[in-house]
Amino acid sequence: MSSSRSALAIGKLLLKNPVIAAAGEHLQTASGVRAALMHDAAVVVAKSMNETSAARMQLARADYRMLDAGWHGRQPDFQPALEAGLLNRSGLIDRDWRDWLAEVGELDREASQLDAYVAASIVLADPLAGQEIARQAQQEGIRIFEFNIGAPYGDEAAVVTTERSAKRVFDLVQGMRQVLDRTQLWVKLTSQSENPALLAKAARDAGADAVILIGRPLGLLPDLETQTPVLNTNCAWGGRWALPLTCYWLARARRLLGPDYPLIATNGARDGGDVARMVLAGARAVEMCSAVMLGGFGVLKEAVASVESYLASKDATLMQIVGKAADSVQPFQDQPVSHRWRDFIPPEAR
Ligand SMILES: Cc1cc2nc3c(=O)[nH]c(=O)nc-3n(C[C@H](O)[C@H](O)[C@H](O)COP(=O)(O)O)c2cc1C
Repeated sequence: MSSSRSALAIGKLLLKNPVIAAAGEHLQTASGVRAALMHDAAVVVAKSMNETSAARMQLARADYRMLDAGWHGRQPDFQPALEAGLLNRSGLIDRDWRDWLAEVGELDREASQLDAYVAASIVLADPLAGQEIARQAQQEGIRIFEFNIGAPYGDEAAVVTTERSAKRVFDLVQGMRQVLDRTQLWVKLTSQSENPALLAKAARDAGADAVILIGRPLGLLPDLETQTPVLNTNCAWGGRWALPLTCYWLARARRLLGPDYPLIATNGARDGGDVARMVLAGARAVEMCSAVMLGGFGVLKEAVASVESYLASKDATLMQIVGKAADSVQPFQDQPVSHRWRDFIPPEAR
């Protein structure tokens, strides 16, 4: 185990740093997973699978648009502007899940030589089939199983689910926990619910070792020229703009679950500074996907180095700063009277 400032614990697992390569199209091959490992990711979440052929077919119909702040599409050049957003619909890995699990197991063993992990991931379709995949993952010796029950596309595609009810989350996670007695169970949750912190509590109460907050929302972007939706469909929408939303729900979940329960962030981290922001909001580790897809694997290494130097500049360890900003959120009524609104309206209205 590394003794760097940015090391941390999630349940029984020790992570060498807080940067996780989140599941996405770039992690469908051993070479992609190895590239993420070589670029210092503490955990690499291999592209998700499930048992349905329809989810695999959906990948062939997936589409993506990188957008600038004026909604113009930009060609991916691996040097995206910080504010670039990614609009897309995705699918699941187009491989037999047993073969993919066997490969992920091999990669996880390789990762242990680097003091890192490769996690298997499913996006849920049928609960019993999901448990069968999890059982097999544990048999392969995979140390982390990520259970995504909050994919954005549940209303668009019957082959994945967007679970919004705490009761459903509890039941699904409890079923999965009964199957996984050695492998760590991480549960990825949607943002598209009235209260993602309550979903986190349900997952914790049902035995999840950690929860991942918050999945990307679904959006619709009309094109002015064609007067049709960009990419023809509703799509998931992500970008750096999402960071404060993620931080807000991390802080709410921390308040509800207490400081000892491990939270993992996803949605909106673009660099090491963003990773540190999410840690200050209550996450112990941060999943980065779009920044790596659009900017290349070097983004991971840079993020690790920048978190390390931030911690050095504050003479702190990562575990010492987890939740510091979340714990200092103040009530509105305690704020000083400043009449600041006057600076934020056009002069004619003063
Ligand atoms: C193109 C694309 C494919 C994705 N595929 C998966 C997936 O297979 N499984 C999963 O759990 N999350 C998937 N995600 C979600 C990401 O892992 C991540 O949680 C989300 O994009 C928010 O983080 P980000 O702002 O760093 O991109 C995908 C995201 C994108 C953009």
